[in-house]
Amino acid sequence: MSEQNPTLAFGIDIGGSGVKGALVDVSTGTQVTERKRIATPQPSTPDAVAEVVRELIHAENWDGPVGITVPAVVRQQVTKTAANIDKAWIDTDVQELFRHHLGEQRDITVLNDADAAGMAEVRFGDQKARTGSVMMLTFGTGIGSALLMDGNLYPNTELGHMKMKKTTAEKYASSKVRDDEELSYKEWAKRVNKVMERYSELFNPQTFIVGGGISRKADKWVPYLTIEQEVIPAKLRNEAGIIGAALAVHEGLRP
Ligand code: BGC
Repeated sequence: MSEQNPTLAFGIDIGGSGVKGALVDVSTGTQVTERKRIATPQPSTPDAVAEVVRELIHAENWDGPVGITVPAVVRQQVTKTAANIDKAWIDTDVQELFRHHLGEQRDITVLNDADAAGMAEVRFGDQKARTGSVMMLTFGTGIGSALLMDGNLYPNTELGHMKMKKTTAEKYASSKVRDDEELSYKEWAKRVNKVMERYSELFNPQTFIVGGGISRKADKWVPYLTIEQEVIPAKLRNEAGIIGAALAVHEGLRP
C-alpha cells in the first residue's frame, strides 16, 4: 500500500514484551489494518527491534509515514533512557536508526509511548482528556505518564520512576508486578491508589486517565481507587500508543 490517502500513517508501539503495529486513519483514529504483534526480540537492541518494525510495515506493503513509540525518554529524536529495553538504546539517534532500517526517504517520528497514548486520548478519547490539567498513566511492563494541559503535552515526564517505599512506582504497581506477585485486582488497586496519591500531592491534576492493556479490565479495579479525582479508563484502551504514534508523524511532531 502506498501513500495514496493523506490521512493514513502507520503506528508502531514498542513495548518491553511486544512490538505492535497497524495502519491508522488519523482523521478518525481507527486502525484500518488488523493490529499485528511480534514478541520483542531478546536482547532488545535497537537494530533487532528496528528489524521487527520493518517486518510489521513490510507485511502491509506500506511505504508512507511511520510513527513509532518507545518506552524511553526521547529528546530531539535521541533516546536518553532504557528501563525495560536494552541499554544500547541510551543515546541512540532514532531518526538515523529507523531511516537505516525503513528507508531514507520516509517520514518518521519517534516519541515516548505514554506521550503518544496521551495525544491519542486528547484527540479521540473523552472530552475530559482535553480539558484542564490531566495526568494519563499507562500500566504495563512499567508505568508510563503523560501530562496534559488543555490537550497540550509536556513530554517525557517518566513518573513511573518516582521513588516509592524504597522502590519505584513502577516496580511497586505496574501491571507486570500484579502478574509477578499474583496480586488480586483489589490488592493491586490499593498500590495503584498509593502511587496516584503521591502524584496527586505533587501535580494535583484535575483528571486521571488510566490506560495500558489492563485498562480493558478497568471495571475490575478502578472502582477500588479512592483517590479524590475522577479516574477515566482510556477510551482507546491498549491501542492508544499505535494511534498516537500515527498521529504524531502525521502532524510532524518531534518531541
Ligand atoms: C519507561 C517509560 C515508559 C513506561 C511505560 C517506563 O519504564 O521509562 O518511558 O513510558 O515504562 O512503558
